[in-house]
Amino acid sequence: MTRLTLTHGDITRQHVDAIVNAANSSLLGGGGVDGAIHRAGGPEILAECRALRASRYGRGLPTGQAVATTAGQLPARWVIHTVGPVYQQDGSADPELLASCYRESLRVADELGARTVAFPAISTGVYRWPMDDAARIAVETVRAARTEAEEVRFVLLDERAYDRFAEQLRRA
Ligand code: APR
Repeated sequence: MTRLTLTHGDITRQHVDAIVNAANSSLLGGGGVDGAIHRAGGPEILAECRALRASRYGRGLPTGQAVATTAGQLPARWVIHTVGPVYQQDGSADPELLASCYRESLRVADELGARTVAFPAISTGVYRWPMDDAARIAVETVRAARTEAEEVRFVLLDERAYDRFAEQLRRA
């Protein structure tokens, strides 16, 4: 049975097997969580991302998919990069793609044998997904996932995000 836990803090400081990155399809870094992970993890992560772009992901990592690299200097063994959907005001962004980020990241974690996995609130920053809906999708998807993970830890940088996720976890 997978334990779902909440932590209010910085995902780059989590001592887990795998840290999930809210990346973009280029896999070449960015701001937010992506920037924090590359800054704290060091150049090895980017080097492996570049190798992925030169091989399996010539056109970039598609939205909703996930791929693992080393975690470099981070207190983890792997970083699992996933690309969330960008929220659209007209409601055209597909929530299934956001759910896929969590599902695919757990599938990659299982392939690696990662038993503890830390997730940020994917798509809720630059990609502007409303926090309450993103929290609902995250918790529902992880709850329903068939995974070997023993702990899935949602790591929220700010109070508002923490409260939204806590609200979702309280639901049956
Ligand atoms: N630890 C935990 N959570 C964090 C951290 C951190 N160090 N830094 C930011 N966050 C939170 C943000 O507050 C937000 O709630 O992660 C959530 C996701 O925000 P973003 O990092 O902006 O990710 P996203 O919305 O998925 O947008 C991805 O942003 O950084 C670029 O390269 C990235 O283009 C991609 C896009």
